[in-house]
Amino acid sequence: MARRSRGKVDHAPGENTDASFCRGGTAVFRRSSKVALLQKVSLFRGLSLKQLEQIARLADEVEVPAGKRLATAGDNGYELFVIVDGQAVAKAARGRAVRLGPGEFFGEMSLVDGGPRSATVETLSSMRLLVVGRREFWQLLTAAPPLGRTIMRVLSRRVRDAEGSVSA
Ligand code: CMP
Repeated sequence: MARRSRGKVDHAPGENTDASFCRGGTAVFRRSSKVALLQKVSLFRGLSLKQLEQIARLADEVEVPAGKRLATAGDNGYELFVIVDGQAVAKAARGRAVRLGPGEFFGEMSLVDGGPRSATVETLSSMRLLVVGRREFWQLLTAAPPLGRTIMRVLSRRVRDAEGSVSA
């Protein structure tokens, strides 16, 4: 199971779920370049430099090759992933497969309610991701409240999508 400490992502040997994204991946820890990276991610548009600096402290930057599984439906989930570059696909047991691209995020559901992953998410291309652990997720929302509103809005849309209910 994934265990994260600042500046480091650990995983159990042979594991092929959430933690395996760091296998063959490169963690990058230059704070100033990370802020520059965050400025390019649409999810963080409108945030102050101070907020971006706080996010840079809370998130790890990771590169992942194509064909990696980042979340497995039914497993426990410990990370939020924000897509900087590349494409992924989320497949729930019911409902259609949904492509996710730059500026989008996934993994928020398990962090919000502590429940298992609602879908399996795999990379369709090589990807650059920001990874935020469970504890850091709540710190992130305190540091940048507008993010909480965005995450709630997207989460609500995903639930409607999954239920096939009327959308906004
Ligand atoms: P989580 O349940 O933690 O792990 C799987 C993730 O897939 C989930 O969080 C969402 O981020 C994402 N996901 C689930 N269903 C959908 C959907 N209908 N559209 C987009 N993303 C989804």
